[in-house]
Amino acid sequence: MLSQNMIDQLNHQINLEIYSSHLYLQMSSWCVHKALDGCALFLNQHADEEMMHMRRLLNYLHETGSLAVLGPVDAPPTQFHSVTELFEKIYAHEQVITQKINHLVHIANTEPDYSTLQFLQWYVAEQHQEEFLFKSVLDKIKLIGTDGQGMFFIDEEVKKLATTKAAKVASEAMPTPGE
Ligand code: FEO
Repeated sequence: MLSQNMIDQLNHQINLEIYSSHLYLQMSSWCVHKALDGCALFLNQHADEEMMHMRRLLNYLHETGSLAVLGPVDAPPTQFHSVTELFEKIYAHEQVITQKINHLVHIANTEPDYSTLQFLQWYVAEQHQEEFLFKSVLDKIKLIGTDGQGMFFIDEEVKKLATTKAAKVASEAMPTPGE
């Protein structure tokens, strides 16, 4: 059984994950509008991942006999000056989410609530991967540059990331022999 404070904090995180999904879906739409199909695909996939993050939290609340509460979700920004700014915003947003997860871990550790502490370890690892992923996209943008045909090559590189990620998700969904 979770404390009311922990239930409230996990519900807050649910809303943040929904906001993250809306943010990336909105950014995907901006990319479609700018004919950046690779970036649009990548962000559309990532919007789905954020909803999966939300559902993990929702299921955990249900498993612990708690009520999930979906509150109002802020509207994401709709305009960006450049694809560089867009990915800088994503990287900054993910760093904020990492801080929120760290805060949840701190509460679970302090209460103590070892079940939630263990449950949150998946999010700790996931945030490490997400920060690494978006930092690598930013590094590619800086390396290639957005002048001339640079934007085309960046979009192609990001599309490769989307394809790789889709293949990874599909392989993880496949049962391994003997299962
Ligand atoms: Fe749910 Fe991108 O962190």
